Amino acid sequence: MRTSFLLSLSVLTQLGCALARPSSNAVWAADSAISRGQGNGLDANGQLTVSYEHGEFWWGLRLLYEKTGNQSYFDYILNGASRIVSNNGTVIGNYKVSDFSLDPVRTGPTFLYLFNQTGDAKWKKAADEYLTQLHGHPRTTQKQFWHKLIYPNQGWLDGIYMGEIFYAQYTNDLQRNNLTAWADITLQFQLMFENTLQNATAPNNTHLLYHGYDHSFKAVWASPDRGHSPEVWDRALGWYMMALVDVLDIMPASNPGHATLLHILQTLAPPLVAAADPHSGVWWLVMTQPGREGNYFESSGAAMFVYSLLKGVRRGYISDKDGSIVAASKKAYAYFLDNFVVPNSNGTMDWTHTVSVGSLSTTGDYNYYISQTTPVNDLKGVGAFLLASLEIERL
Ligand SMILES: *[C@@H]1O[C@H](CO)[C@@H](O)[C@H](O)[C@H]1NC(C)=O
Ligand SMILES: *[C@@H]1O[C@H](CO)[C@@H](O)[C@H](O)[C@H]1NC(C)=O
Ligand SMILES: *[C@@H]1O[C@H](CO)[C@@H](O)[C@H](O)[C@H]1NC(C)=O
Ligand SMILES: *[C@@H]1O[C@H](CO)[C@@H](O)[C@H](O)[C@H]1NC(C)=O
Ligand SMILES: *[C@@H]1O[C@H](CO)[C@@H](O)[C@H](O)[C@H]1NC(C)=O
Ligand SMILES: *[C@@H]1O[C@H](CO)[C@@H](O)[C@H](O)[C@H]1NC(C)=O
Ligand SMILES: *[C@@H]1O[C@H](CO)[C@@H](O)[C@H](O)[C@H]1NC(C)=O
Repeated sequence: MRTSFLLSLSVLTQLGCALARPSSNAVWAADSAISRGQGNGLDANGQLTVSYEHGEFWWGLRLLYEKTGNQSYFDYILNGASRIVSNNGTVIGNYKVSDFSLDPVRTGPTFLYLFNQTGDAKWKKAADEYLTQLHGHPRTTQKQFWHKLIYPNQGWLDGIYMGEIFYAQYTNDLQRNNLTAWADITLQFQLMFENTLQNATAPNNTHLLYHGYDHSFKAVWASPDRGHSPEVWDRALGWYMMALVDVLDIMPASNPGHATLLHILQTLAPPLVAAADPHSGVWWLVMTQPGREGNYFESSGAAMFVYSLLKGVRRGYISDKDGSIVAASKKAYAYFLDNFVVPNSNGTMDWTHTVSVGSLSTTGDYNYYISQTTPVNDLKGVGAFLLASLEIERL
């Protein structure tokens, strides 16, 4: 009796789990994050946070809303963003213009989206605050935005995703004919590319981009020849790749910058595909040192790569005549499902193997990158998996 009761209970639980798991992994990832209250304008301690992770997640939720028509996703974006923008349109929480950090600016595309959707002027005012920041933002002598005021003369790949999607969306929506702005956006991509591309004689040349560079050569990690940091870090490159395919959608195709961005994307895509580990199909955390002890397959960068490659092919930005890019993306994605995704008995999923941080605030060397923690359900990775899933589900 007791055994059969327990047996049917366990059958029911399994059934419940099977029923609760959505057929779309994009929905699964989003609903799981939402059930945990992630990306709602608050940090883990319940404090207001103006966070690029939330901006990245809202970008995915917007796409999911457009795909499913499920109003819950729109409401979640609206509620989250409403926490960090006051009714009079000031950005509140931990945002300060005077930090001149590109990171918070990644929430700006959501403000522009909400202005578009609701017509509420407070969203434009909040976006204007970020544009004002960019207009006063400190730059290198070549005109690259500093990553933050506390990192003088440094360009980081991450900053391109944080700043340029907003800058492009603002320009498209509100200053469409401002050729100076479009040229400036293009220049940000171009300077990062030229200053961080591994040159032919570099050891372990991946033909990809180092994490960042210091145009004043003062950082401890700056190489004497070009000021670049020592390693190719997967997530930094992931941010940059996502920024390329997202800004290519926003920038008018008639603008000369469009061809520049296309050229960069087409230059990076083949070596990126080639850098995948041949067995697993995914990418190493430190891409310049494949297989070295302590290195591992990192999930956020990998998901960003799959999103960027598939979107690039879908939009015709990269050619995939023999189907090898889509095949590589599908192989990597299958690895995610087997190794990075953990189904829970209550129908939610966990996302693992995302590194919490990779900064150029210290040595930027191999030991630094491999020593950072990999917390479960890190939103940077969950957001990237949502984006990759949206692309996979369009194939
Ligand atoms: C819409 O999304 C919400 C929240 O993620 C979910 O709970 C709900 O079941 C979805 N509704 C439909 C009709 O799919
Ligand atoms: C706007 O709202 C913020 C936060 O509520 C407040 O600190 C600020 O004084 C207000 N500014 C104006 C111009 O009303
Ligand atoms: C919102 O954005 C869409 C798509 O870009 C555009 O067609 C529409 O005109 C915009 N609406 C408003 C009110 O700005
Ligand atoms: C055009 O963009 C530039 C660079 O962002 C900016 O300085 C200028 O004010 C903008 N011009 C107009 C008319 O909006
Ligand atoms: C290429 O990179 C290597 C290693 O960073 C450096 O020694 C060399 O000077 C660079 N060459 C050029 C032409 O930039
Ligand atoms: C090149 O890659 C190998 C294998 O990952 C690694 O052991 C070595 O340290 C790397 N060399 C440099 C200079 O990065
Ligand atoms: C679902 O299960 C996971 C793993 O046990 C747990 O962390 C999470 O809080 C649960 N979610 C809900 C909504 O109960």
